[in-house]
Amino acid sequence: MSPRTQAPEEAYTAEPFVPSAADLASLREAAAGCRGCPLHQDASQTVFGEGAEDARVMLVGEQPGDQEDRQGKPFVGPAGRLLDRALAEAGIEPGQAYVTNAVKHFKFTLRGKRRIHKAPSLREMTACAPWLEAELDRVEPELVVTLGATAGKALLGSSFRVTQERGTLLEREIHGRPERVVATIHPSAVLRAEDREAVYQGLVADLRVAARALGGE
Ligand code: URA
Ligand code: SF4
Repeated sequence: MSPRTQAPEEAYTAEPFVPSAADLASLREAAAGCRGCPLHQDASQTVFGEGAEDARVMLVGEQPGDQEDRQGKPFVGPAGRLLDRALAEAGIEPGQAYVTNAVKHFKFTLRGKRRIHKAPSLREMTACAPWLEAELDRVEPELVVTLGATAGKALLGSSFRVTQERGTLLEREIHGRPERVVATIHPSAVLRAEDREAVYQGLVADLRVAARALGGE
C-alpha cells in the first residue's frame, strides 16, 4: 500500500507539482511524483504524454488503461493499437503526434484479479488539468484531437457532446489560447461496439478531417 499523502479533499489539484518554465522532460519527471489527487495511490505510476516537443498534432485520451499503467506509456494497449491503425489509415503518422491523456493515473476497480477501468470524476479531471495545460504550452500543437467524451469535456467544457461535435474542425479558446480542435470517439468505443467496422470507419473519417486540417492529404 502506498502512503496516503495526497492533498486534503478540498484541494485536489496537480498545480503545486507542476514546475513553471520546464521542458517536457522535466515536466514528465515532476509528474512522476504528483500527489494532486488520490488516483496515484492505487495506480503503478504516472503515465505522462509521449511524443516530440515539436509534434504538429496532440491526441488526448481519457486516462491510462491497465497496460499503460504497467508500461508507463500512453496508448500501448488494445485501444492504442487500434488508434495507430486508424491514424495510419487516415494519413496521420503516429510519429507526427504527441499522445497524452486528460488524467495521468489509471483509475480502476478490482473484479477478482482483473483491474477494470473506471471513469475519472470531474474533480479528478480538474485536478489533473494543469499537466495537460503544461503539455499544450510546451508542444503548441497546430491541432488537438480529443478522443472520447472525457477528453472532449476536459478541453472543451462540460457541455461538450461528442455525438454533436465530432468530425468537424472546431476553433476554440483553451486556457486563453485559440486552438484548432477535432473531436472524435474513443478508440475503445470501437472495441466495445457490436457494429465494430462501422464505428471504426467513423473514427477514421473523423481522423481524416484532422489529417486535412494538418494539410496532410
Ligand atoms: N485509453 C486512454 O484513454 N488512454 C490510454 O492511454 C489508453 C487507453
Ligand atoms: Fe496527479 Fe493527475 Fe495523478 Fe491525480 S491523476 S495524482 S492530479 S497526475
